[in-house]
Amino acid sequence: MTDRFTLDHRLPQDHLATSLRTDVLRGLATAPRTLPSKWLYDARGSELFEQITELPEYYPTRAEEEILTRRAPEIAALTRATTLAELGSGSSRKTRLLLDALTAAGTLRQYAPLDVSPSALLDAGQALCRDYPRLQVAASVTDFEQELPLGEEPGPRLLAFLGSTIGNLDPAQRQSFYAALRHTLSADDALLLGADLVKDTTRLVSAYDDSQGVTAAFNKNVLNVLNRELDADFDLDTFDHLALWNEPEERIEMHLRSRRAQQVKIPAVDLVLDLAAGETLRTEISSKFRRETLTAELGANGFTVRRWWTDTAGRFGLLLVVPTH
Ligand code: SAH
Ligand code: TRP
Repeated sequence: MTDRFTLDHRLPQDHLATSLRTDVLRGLATAPRTLPSKWLYDARGSELFEQITELPEYYPTRAEEEILTRRAPEIAALTRATTLAELGSGSSRKTRLLLDALTAAGTLRQYAPLDVSPSALLDAGQALCRDYPRLQVAASVTDFEQELPLGEEPGPRLLAFLGSTIGNLDPAQRQSFYAALRHTLSADDALLLGADLVKDTTRLVSAYDDSQGVTAAFNKNVLNVLNRELDADFDLDTFDHLALWNEPEERIEMHLRSRRAQQVKIPAVDLVLDLAAGETLRTEISSKFRRETLTAELGANGFTVRRWWTDTAGRFGLLLVVPTH
């Protein structure tokens, strides 16, 4: 392993033991039952998500990549970033377009990916160090809802938050996130935000319920996490993957629906779930945005939208955002 790669484990040693237990007790004990989406991303979940990005139905990755391909040089010129940081970086595949443009502009010194998934950070870091022989990669394993460790290096810094992961936060979580971000970013830093847009329901639903069943496997994998980490006895074959459009909230919701009435034991937290036939556990929300409301939401939280780009089909938005002076 090269000395240009560091992996800083910032999650507490007992993260799985304590944080997952708390989330399960808080979210699953009573209906409506929910689980925070970060638990989808163990090593297997991170692999399955990568497969999702290549599905014909899952347009967001290709749409965002199209925008980045066209706009990366402009983003590099506008920001002149020395550090590119990224939240929920996953495989960092699309990020290469930004790394290339910032390298060509001659400003980039460091890439600082942050993710809850150590395996994703390790795989991405190794591949990047191989392909970018001058780049320092300083990765952090942490939860971006808990902390935003962006380091003390001289700016300007560009913080990327791609893949519409912002949409996986509910409005209250987005508020807290903006407040933390406003606190962390300096006047010369910028945020590059990827946001999926409202469109017709059929296309939205099939992006989260593909014909090969990869998204279903990704969703159900969270039950494997609970079985492994908390000795639970979920039988994956008794649950169906469900993706539905919540019209009033303008969001896709992913659920796991129990096929029959059943009891599930989660001994590590002393919990027995009595699930009715058809009862669901909600595992993810994916909010879809409109230009006006997202601009207003950012404005109300201390941010100004400098640029708003979409792919040619108008499916996805990429925003360059700065702290309001
Ligand atoms: N940015 C990539 C991956 C998006 S998937 C892309 O656009 O394709 C969401 C990523 O965010 C996953 O890698 C997941 O592990 C990470 N993630 C989800 N919740 C997180 C949290 N609370 N803190 C840090 N990372 C998180
Ligand atoms: N950020 C991605 C999105 O909202 C995450 C995602 C894609 C996802 N497909 C999923 C999460 C399926 C859970 C299940 O589009």
